[in-house]
Amino acid sequence: MIVPVMEMARTRMTASDPRRASLLGRAREASATGETAGYIAEKPKTLPIFKHYQPAAGDPDWQRLLAEAEEIVAEARPMLERPRRGLAELGRRTAAYRQALGNFRKNRSLARQGREDLRPLYFIWTLLRNCNFGCEYCDDHQGRRYPELPKQGTLDTEQGRKLLEIMRTGTCSVYFAGGEPTMRKDLPELTRAARDLGYFPIVINTNGSLFHKVLRRESWRTFLADIDIVVVSLDALRPARLNELWVTERSQDVLRNLLVLWLLSAEMRFKLMVNTVILPGAAGDARAVLDFANDMGIWFCPVPVNQGPTVAAELAGDREYDELVAAILDRKRAGYRVTGSLRMNERLLRSAPLHCRNTLKPHIDHDGRLVWPCKATVNVKPRYVDVLRFSSVDSLYEYASAEIDPTGFHGPGADQCGANCNWAQNYTTDAYAHGLTHPRALVAEVVSFLGRGR
Ligand SMILES: C[S@@+](CC[C@H](N)C(=O)[O-])C[C@H]1O[C@@H](n2cnc3c(N)ncnc32)[C@H](O)[C@@H]1O
Ligand code: SF4
Repeated sequence: MIVPVMEMARTRMTASDPRRASLLGRAREASATGETAGYIAEKPKTLPIFKHYQPAAGDPDWQRLLAEAEEIVAEARPMLERPRRGLAELGRRTAAYRQALGNFRKNRSLARQGREDLRPLYFIWTLLRNCNFGCEYCDDHQGRRYPELPKQGTLDTEQGRKLLEIMRTGTCSVYFAGGEPTMRKDLPELTRAARDLGYFPIVINTNGSLFHKVLRRESWRTFLADIDIVVVSLDALRPARLNELWVTERSQDVLRNLLVLWLLSAEMRFKLMVNTVILPGAAGDARAVLDFANDMGIWFCPVPVNQGPTVAAELAGDREYDELVAAILDRKRAGYRVTGSLRMNERLLRSAPLHCRNTLKPHIDHDGRLVWPCKATVNVKPRYVDVLRFSSVDSLYEYASAEIDPTGFHGPGADQCGANCNWAQNYTTDAYAHGLTHPRALVAEVVSFLGRGR
């Protein structure tokens, strides 16, 4: 029996539609018998033989989690829309690369004039401030905890679409963050809008705790097809430790859902990463994630924890941290999946002094306001500029630059940021700024971020 899943994809059906119930029933039946409609049945994926990762006391039962993940995938897979291929997809990527190249040329010219109002590489959108976790280290770079920040003014779907349209005039990549972005019911509509506007890459940073629910909803069937990179936060492997750190009881859901994404990433053609915050005295937790991710072929993205704008001082001189850094860099040299170039990782993990270029990765808050020129400034309060009042990134940047000129803003003076910050995102902008005079290094960076690696 071939299940006509594409019928569901082509015809909009509400949750109460009897045709949907019937199709879902047939899809479940088919997946139980190994058939999938419009899909080539994937070979069952087993856990690899672990080479680096050594399960320790208190680690998850990966076999059990994989069995649960397979059940979720079997139910979700027949509903999922396939990612686009062919000319449409080629067109999206080509247009995005063209935009990135145009921005590169413009930025090189601005940099030659000594200007720092560089055009964005991507933008980070805090879709909402709500979160179902309460991670003890999580703040808005001004020391305020996300779940405790006011939530009013969150953009609705139409406003969100408009924001995407405006930002697309000056950048090709969007990074959905929060709060927890998967808590927004309209996330698939926003990712579809981003896809239709030709954004590439479309990235989401998520705690991953809700995928077992949302991927089984018809309204989410397009989501994975539209996403290019899924970044799941994972700071340790032991559920008890994670529950404590994230202030939740749902860490097993995250670990299992990571396996769900691992099972689906190749066929749905998205890149799967884990983002690992490294905490003082807990380098062993990050080491376990590094080993596990490397064995599983999941991209590993290390982030020394920030306290406000700077990396936690206790990490400097911590022997375990230094050993972890050496291991991460060795793996990178050996070709394992560690996000970013070797140069960028060396600078990030050793907190090399940097001159940040914040306008390369503007932050837009839940209410559609651009936080200018930087979210972590200490001496000068950032300006909040309503993006929806503008028709283009050029006009937005012109207005914002007249409010606070980003050129010369980085520094210790009373009229400068005073933050001397070294958060992870700034090393991306640092690498890009380096690339303005060393284009080959920039190409290596882009390949490392977008490439599939070994
Ligand atoms: C604010 S969260 C929002 C997205 C989503 N809720 C999540 O946890 O992935 C974005 C990323 O920032 C990281 N993060 C939060 N607080 C941090 C801090 N103090 N230092 C470094 N990274 C931090 C999180 O681990 C997460 O990967
Ligand atoms: S899940 Fe993400 S947004 Fe929520 S508290 Fe943790 S780091 Fe912050």
